[in-house]
Amino acid sequence: MTPLGPCVSAPTVQLRQEVCTRLEATIARHRGKVGPLLPVLQDAHRILGYIPLEMQQVIAAELNIAGSQVFDTLSFYSMAAWQPKGKHIIRLCHSPCCHVTDADNLLKIIQEELEVEVGGVTADRLFTLELTACLGACEVSPAMQIDEVVFGNLNRDKVRQILADYRDGKAVDYRRLPYSTRDFREFTQGPHELVLLNNVGRIDPMSIDAYLARGGYDALKQAVTTMTPAEVVEMVKTSG
Ligand code: FES
Repeated sequence: MTPLGPCVSAPTVQLRQEVCTRLEATIARHRGKVGPLLPVLQDAHRILGYIPLEMQQVIAAELNIAGSQVFDTLSFYSMAAWQPKGKHIIRLCHSPCCHVTDADNLLKIIQEELEVEVGGVTADRLFTLELTACLGACEVSPAMQIDEVVFGNLNRDKVRQILADYRDGKAVDYRRLPYSTRDFREFTQGPHELVLLNNVGRIDPMSIDAYLARGGYDALKQAVTTMTPAEVVEMVKTSG
């Protein structure tokens, strides 16, 4: 294991050199921007998968803010961690739809399979088990999320199979999943015409170029370059 050493920006803090270097580079990328703390925390979280006290101290020193402010912000977000977690984070939903569709029993099954309590890490450090509020997948409840992937319509056998797959190294890569499991148009019935959501499932939602290629911002451009304010108001009224 690489020995610990002091960080340049916080000489009293002992961290692995490579962690210090990456953290300081991360902070440098956001320095001078408005509200740098949140983006720094997001990027810093990726370095170890959690932000221990020592990293929080470096962030506080570099951004010239109190350590308590760093922890305050970090601890507000339930998906952020300040202690090591398992390689995969299981978040089982326990909100009403999942609760009434047997989430409690699924929790028992997961705990038996993994021999871990809620909040704990399995002995092989492969999984952390957590409960979460609604995952936004109520139509396929009961549901759980493992890392970035949501699994729905769970039952005893399905849960066991998913856990076995992850143990065998067959984790689902969310980047290979379709943008939506169902064509959004299936959800619209009757004579509706999709306007704001017309590009759903047709473009890469993470790509601004894909958006621009399908006319993204054209209406804004038209409104600010060729129309008067009164014409914009009139068009909005006419649109209904
Ligand atoms: Fe579980 Fe909504 S209540 S996904």
